[in-house]
Amino acid sequence: MALILVTGGAGYIGSHTVYFLRQRGHEVAVVDNLSRGRAKSVPDGLLHQLDLRDAAGLTALLQSRPFDAVIHFAAFIAVGESTKLPELYFSNNVASSISLFEAMLKAGVKRVVFSSTAAAYGIPTHVPIIETQPSQPINPYGETKVMVERILETLDLHREFRSVCLRYFNACGSEPAAGLGECHEPETHLIPLILRAVRTGQPVTLFGDDYPTPDGTCIRDYIHVSDLAEAHINSVEHLLRGGESQVFNVGTGHGHSVKEVVAAVERVTGKKVPVTLGPRRDGDPPSLVADSTKLQITLGWKPTRADLDRIVSDAWDFAQHGTCA
Ligand code: UFG
Repeated sequence: MALILVTGGAGYIGSHTVYFLRQRGHEVAVVDNLSRGRAKSVPDGLLHQLDLRDAAGLTALLQSRPFDAVIHFAAFIAVGESTKLPELYFSNNVASSISLFEAMLKAGVKRVVFSSTAAAYGIPTHVPIIETQPSQPINPYGETKVMVERILETLDLHREFRSVCLRYFNACGSEPAAGLGECHEPETHLIPLILRAVRTGQPVTLFGDDYPTPDGTCIRDYIHVSDLAEAHINSVEHLLRGGESQVFNVGTGHGHSVKEVVAAVERVTGKKVPVTLGPRRDGDPPSLVADSTKLQITLGWKPTRADLDRIVSDAWDFAQHGTCA
């Protein structure tokens, strides 16, 4: 059992990871400035409301208890917003991370699991994507994640600061037993938007059907948030065992088109999804599918909730019974 600090633990993936860490017997503290997270997603007594750029506050927190490692989720994640306000993304995602790593070094905590992204690859040259493909992000959000990966590489080399960078594909679903789910404001992600269309009758827009894919819509690798949470736990336990720094993709290895996701929602809910066709969204690659072999072989991780209907069913459960208030 270890003591883990989770930044951004009030967010979607962070809160699920806190839930699974505690299930596995780890002790957890959460730091979140609540600018986008929800206090209600954090179990009582665990939350420290703090901005990572508050260097003094963060150092004091890290020195207050014998933390073994940090899992660093806190970041802004909206690709569209990042193209309008890149400076906000550099400050919130890069400067905050540097502040965190400095505080960790001061406190002698030298292990971190970092939330990276498939957006690091930009338009991939080959699909499924392996980790050695070049990092060529095509938006500021992806750029911030690649910058932090580079900082971590340098800290590994010169400061024995060990990290695992997890490049997520499309996180989705929810953990009904935990009462947690996906709440973004505004929501931009496909599955919650389709479920909203089912509930409200207001159509969801399909962003283009003229891509070079079998049905013309974009293909993505949808990874259940609970499988993603477990990848973080395997990664932090690897570091706690003294494991070396690593970069891993996290996905299922299977792609689904936008139209296939719509069909899955219709199967699961038993309702017709109202859709309209719109133009392509800027910066959407036709197909993003992970090759996660490295993670599976190195850490023994395996997605156990990869079935698309299972993912949609868990997301639907939260859409009906959960609350984002
Ligand atoms: N889509 C629609 N209509 C919508 C919303 C999305 O057709 O209303 C389509 C998109 O064009 C895309 C697919 O559904 O083809 C998935 O879109 P999401 O916005 O749900 O997810 P993205 O693949 O754009 O983004 C995800 C993560 C980002 C990350 C990116 C990496 O959410 O954080 O993968 O490329 F940067």
